[in-house]
Amino acid sequence: MSTYKNIVILTGAGISAESGLATFRASNGLWNNHKVEDVATIEAFERNPAYVHEFYNELKKELVKAKPNKAHLAITRLQKEYDANISVVTQNVDTLHEKAGNQNIYHIHGQINQAVCLNCGRILETFGDIDTETVCPHCHIAGMMKPNIVFFGENLLCMDKVDRLLSECDLFLSIGTSGVVFPAASFVQIAKYNNAKTYEFNLEPTSNNYFFDHHIYGPAGTTLPAFVDEMIKNK
Ligand code: APR
Repeated sequence: MSTYKNIVILTGAGISAESGLATFRASNGLWNNHKVEDVATIEAFERNPAYVHEFYNELKKELVKAKPNKAHLAITRLQKEYDANISVVTQNVDTLHEKAGNQNIYHIHGQINQAVCLNCGRILETFGDIDTETVCPHCHIAGMMKPNIVFFGENLLCMDKVDRLLSECDLFLSIGTSGVVFPAASFVQIAKYNNAKTYEFNLEPTSNNYFFDHHIYGPAGTTLPAFVDEMIKNK
């Protein structure tokens, strides 16, 4: 374990699995019960906004009840006890990293507790349901609110910052992501190109397997706390 100064932690749905939240591509995953093209594309939202709102309103009810697990809490411990710049780049739209007390969090696929007004562009926190009648509190136009979720075909959020983090990182941890959705799936290659040490934490090898220096298999709620213990002991 060498000393690291700039750490990027990429997370996917797998880090929230032990909090009871469904992942996307497992056999009981979200994309097995809903088609991506019906709820996660801008075309779907234009075609049937009420159905897309309903999907995210229901998902929000699940996500806001969830509690962070030992993997999220291990990141908080690492950020508190390991002297480095440690950023969390998450594909997840849940707020479990925030609930666990993680800092420097970048939601590149958006957040379930936010909506964006397509008329004035303002982003607002939403704790209740939003629908095709919701009025924007800033421009007072109704029916232009969209969940602040990045749909397939839309640009990711925070990418200027994420690009800079990846170019400077010397340790890249990928936790609970299948590595099939780009550009997040390419982050390990950017980190590797910049000579970062790369670790993949998953239940099983992923399609990105080849790019990682190390693979730590098992539930992140077990493997990540053990890894953080070792990092802090050897800092
Ligand atoms: N510990 C570690 N890894 C786990 C655990 C766990 N307890 N449970 C599941 N996993 C792993 C699975 O093996 C899988 O590789 O988490 C991964 C989840 O993969 P996906 O369901 O594809 O989720 P994710 O990689 O986050 O999807 C990326 O796709 O549809 C889009 O926007 C959506 O952000 C999402 C993106």
